[in-house]
Amino acid sequence: MAPPGNRASAAPEAVAAAEAVAAVDPLAHRGGLAAHAAETAACTRCRLAQGRTQVVFGVGDPGAELMFVGEAPGFHEDQQGIPFVGQAGKLLDRLLAGIGLERNDVYVANVLKCRPPGNRDPQPDEIEACESHLFRQIELIEPLVVATLGNFATKLLSGKPHGITRVHGTPQEATLGGRRVTLFPLFHPAAALYTPRMLRTLEEDFARLPALLSRARPQPAPVIALPVQAPVPVPPRAAEQLGLF
Ligand code: URA
Repeated sequence: MAPPGNRASAAPEAVAAAEAVAAVDPLAHRGGLAAHAAETAACTRCRLAQGRTQVVFGVGDPGAELMFVGEAPGFHEDQQGIPFVGQAGKLLDRLLAGIGLERNDVYVANVLKCRPPGNRDPQPDEIEACESHLFRQIELIEPLVVATLGNFATKLLSGKPHGITRVHGTPQEATLGGRRVTLFPLFHPAAALYTPRMLRTLEEDFARLPALLSRARPQPAPVIALPVQAPVPVPPRAAEQLGLF
């Protein structure tokens, strides 16, 4: 597989054009993402298309600063068309509430957009077939921080083979969708549901997200104070000539 981001990143001219549109049209995020969702809804790139009820594209704020990427839809997600609606989703909502956020403040998606049968692991060829949908999503949303939930999202988006146990809680810089983003690997909520120690670690890692977001926000240009000029005194004779007295 080619390095992540490069596969989905557009040509520099296309990125510049998209940035120009976004600068004048704050709804560009929304329109672009809706069009991408409509295209993805008909995807037949891999075998998972045959068994799905529907494509589970993603939910949340199309211009979110913070994006979560999980693994793949399960039974309930496939039925409802929304990611993370089962027990793992409830935990995700609770973790978000812990940092003062709701689903609508962030964007949530998965590596795979269709449910693998029996909730088995995603296969490499399925990930390869589906990954450009995710990279395009990231390109359109332009998040500042992408939190990867579990091994599959972390390995795909970091482009590195390191497992989640080793890299969780350590922010990385990555180029995704043609932009620099902070990648923040987290344990998958489904794994943390039944392992109290992992849940504590996930809560601790989650608590670092607000600071990571603040750090990732563009800093306002510094205000440079110019020295105040004292008024130039007018000599008396010049003042008389000017008819001031
Ligand atoms: N639900 C999802 O949408 N993704 C996961 O990775 C797990 C549960």
